[in-house]
Amino acid sequence: RMNSEDEVFVGSIDQGTTSTRFLIFDKSGEPVAIHQEEFSQIYPRPGWHEHDPEEIVKSVETCIEGALKTFIQDGHSKESIKAIGITDQRETTVVWDTTTGESLYNAIVWTDTRTAALARELKARPGSDKLQDISGLPISTYPSVTKLLWLLRNVDQVRKVYEAGNLAFGTVDAWLIYKLNGGKSKNVFVSDPSNASRTMFMDLHTLEYSDHLLDFFSYEFNLRKIHMPRIVRSSDTKAFGSIASGSLQNFPITGCLGDQAAALVGQKGFEPGSAKNTYGTGCFLLYNVGDKPVISKHGLMATVAYDFDGKPVYALEGSIAVAGSGVKFLMHNMGFESASHKITELAESVPDNGGLVFVTAFSGLFAPYWIDDAHGTMFGITQHTERGHIARATLEAVCFQTKAILAAMEKDSGRKLADLKVDGGMSNSALCMQTQADLVGIPIVRPQMRETTALGAAIAAGFAVGVWKDFGELKEVNTKGQTTFEPRMEPAVSAKMFLRWERAVGMCKGWLA
Ligand code: G3P
Repeated sequence: RMNSEDEVFVGSIDQGTTSTRFLIFDKSGEPVAIHQEEFSQIYPRPGWHEHDPEEIVKSVETCIEGALKTFIQDGHSKESIKAIGITDQRETTVVWDTTTGESLYNAIVWTDTRTAALARELKARPGSDKLQDISGLPISTYPSVTKLLWLLRNVDQVRKVYEAGNLAFGTVDAWLIYKLNGGKSKNVFVSDPSNASRTMFMDLHTLEYSDHLLDFFSYEFNLRKIHMPRIVRSSDTKAFGSIASGSLQNFPITGCLGDQAAALVGQKGFEPGSAKNTYGTGCFLLYNVGDKPVISKHGLMATVAYDFDGKPVYALEGSIAVAGSGVKFLMHNMGFESASHKITELAESVPDNGGLVFVTAFSGLFAPYWIDDAHGTMFGITQHTERGHIARATLEAVCFQTKAILAAMEKDSGRKLADLKVDGGMSNSALCMQTQADLVGIPIVRPQMRETTALGAAIAAGFAVGVWKDFGELKEVNTKGQTTFEPRMEPAVSAKMFLRWERAVGMCKGWLA
């Protein structure tokens, strides 16, 4: 091994929907230490999904200490960690009191559908059809805006603090950066454009808060009275401050990306036309469209992929709300199996779905359909149906939605993808990836090292401090091995399967009485 003085590492905080991790990467993009912790998923009512913001911060601190311990036991010195990046679940909304630095309510998670009626109300207001051109997003329960409006309307304490002029709003990146820096004593209050573009307050073209959007949403509460994070570049030596306490005290935070943007970076999707699909809690396909946003006409979102140097890069995004969470549903709610790889084995125990289609619309149905009031719906149950079919249909649901998203992307971009890079927990399932290739008819390429989300945040942080100097240098990063799944199914067979799916989608709506 190299002398420890020559070693260079970058830390990465990956704060996802169901777990938090801290990873330490070397210059070749290999993780040398990792610690992961799950935290509470709070489901107070059907359709509601919350996290405790203070618990999230604690989980980050625990993960940092855990990974660092292994790192030091392996003979590295912590001084060789040059910078820290942050990546996070996007849209999830935290509100806090600027006078105390404490959160005022649980975080409302991106999957939460309590705002379905509110989204409908917003869509009915004059001018609602103009917002997507500015924000890139259709109105739905998904962006932070509806969650913030719900909190103002329904939580007395939030309204009180708002009226006093002390209400802070942030996505998880902003909250974590604020807290890790020491909270109100330091008051480092920033967000990057890949996160801010998910609030529905940011103008995609200027990367600043949009007066037009703020005016539109301010009919009941004056949103300008709320403290919102300053939007800064995704890679920056100063803006994100440094860690205030613990073993990495004074270590600089120099990169910040929403987790899907980070996965695109970690897959090195820097060229326009490259795309990745991350099968995490949800599943998100991001397609690099270059230096100008493309506003979708076919049910996708336009979003900022990253801004490393004042020249933002944009993506078209297809968001699927339920992927790994569908597998967890089978485990935790239905008691099918106790480990996710067992669900794949269960799916493999049957030769096909037996005619069963499961529209896993637990959070409404996202792209490209955007049905806020859809509910999870299973079609084609017969006496022959067994658990294997249900497992298979759960995996297939993500593959069908990905197919619909790719079709929309081709229409919006006028280009067909040559292949699709994948990562995330469900990409471990060869059955799922083969089904994906069969359904979309292009090769699915899975890297050996699949911690691409965390790697992306490390790259953003490493760029700022010169660990990597340009994209060219990253050619050598994470190149060890990949698996390609080639399409094998007859197109006529996959087309028939897809048709059944689309019919099922047509029948899962209308639950908002
Ligand atoms: O938009 C939500 C997304 O960022 C969450 O990602 O990986 O936790 O499913 P993940």
